[in-house]
Amino acid sequence: MSRFDKIIDRTHTDSEKWDKYKGRDIIPMWVADSDFETAPEIVEALQKRVAHAVFGYSAQPTEGVKEAIFDHLRSQYDWQIDSDWIIPLPSLVRGLSLSCEMTEQEGDQVIIPATIYPPFKFIPGNVGRETIPVPMKLLADERWVLDFDALQKTISPQTQMVLFCNPHNPAGTVYTRDELERLHAICKEHDCLICSDEIHCDLILDEGKKHIPIASLNEDAASRTITLMAASKTFNVAGLGFGFAIVSDEALRDKFKKRVRKTMPDINILAQVATEVAFKHGEAWRLEQIEYLRENRDYLMREINAIDDMKMYPLEATFLAWIDVSRLGLGDAQSFFEAAGVGISPGSYFGDENFIRLNFACRRALLEEAVARIRKAVASIVQ
Ligand SMILES: Cc1ncc(COP(=O)(O)O)c(C=O)c1O
Repeated sequence: MSRFDKIIDRTHTDSEKWDKYKGRDIIPMWVADSDFETAPEIVEALQKRVAHAVFGYSAQPTEGVKEAIFDHLRSQYDWQIDSDWIIPLPSLVRGLSLSCEMTEQEGDQVIIPATIYPPFKFIPGNVGRETIPVPMKLLADERWVLDFDALQKTISPQTQMVLFCNPHNPAGTVYTRDELERLHAICKEHDCLICSDEIHCDLILDEGKKHIPIASLNEDAASRTITLMAASKTFNVAGLGFGFAIVSDEALRDKFKKRVRKTMPDINILAQVATEVAFKHGEAWRLEQIEYLRENRDYLMREINAIDDMKMYPLEATFLAWIDVSRLGLGDAQSFFEAAGVGISPGSYFGDENFIRLNFACRRALLEEAVARIRKAVASIVQ
């Protein structure tokens, strides 16, 4: 038995994911946190830090966290940064928002993928920028990628930033070097900034696929990119609130840092401990989790694609399955699956109502139960 098969009761723990369906027999498979206990190394370090019992202000970032991020990026992605480029953030959604504020002025256009993690859609508007969606395109090998031809046609002198997501949530795409080079070339031609949300980069499920930070392509890409990362999704520590931006261009970094200081609270000291230990000592646990998630993904894909009129697309990364349910003709997909006892995220949140997104970062037995419920509900409407 794997450690990820352990039954953990998350009810009565103020879990956003589980409390949504409090008192109802609905398996929560929506918001993107996992049901797994984090790595024991992290728990131990947090316990030790708590036992010290003094929780005054800490360095922002701590030397330990800077060192951990620096080494992590070099060893995992062959990306040599300078530790001064690291800017700690209490949340990556706030990081996306601050990034949009780095464009010249209100009214500037910010391009986003049309199908995307929902905050991308309202963040530019919240800070007075105009949101321009560019569609995703399905390639022959069933990978969803940003439609670069459409991007080339849409980008204009008013476009000051592309908000990019790699690996992509919800389609799970890991962009190739060629694709990233194409994106960079378009942005360079139009002298446009890139904000690259790479929060899911340590969750690559496909063997042989590799995450490439777009800022690591070359000096020009680095100079026009704000990269956002965190240990939060991979190590299930999102509730602690910590992510970071990497900004190599000095002027852009100074501007970003000033805005952080003006608008953000200090980083929680426990979150910094968790991130340091995750990157320094969590690798064996991470790989074990990848193995477990890969098996969950393969199981889910087999089962869903054996159900008439449902189609799960291959998923290279993340623990979020992107499933086409359009042929079921459901109307309100969320209500249908909730009535079946499975709490999914409707695709309309992400910009495509033909789909649902299902979080499979849970113990296998629970996933099997969810699949059985889906199978039964669909069988009752497909004759
Ligand atoms: C692409 C992406 N960015 C950002 C976030 C949220 O980051 P945070 O909790 O640090 O604000 C998520 C959470 O699901 C996400 O999928």
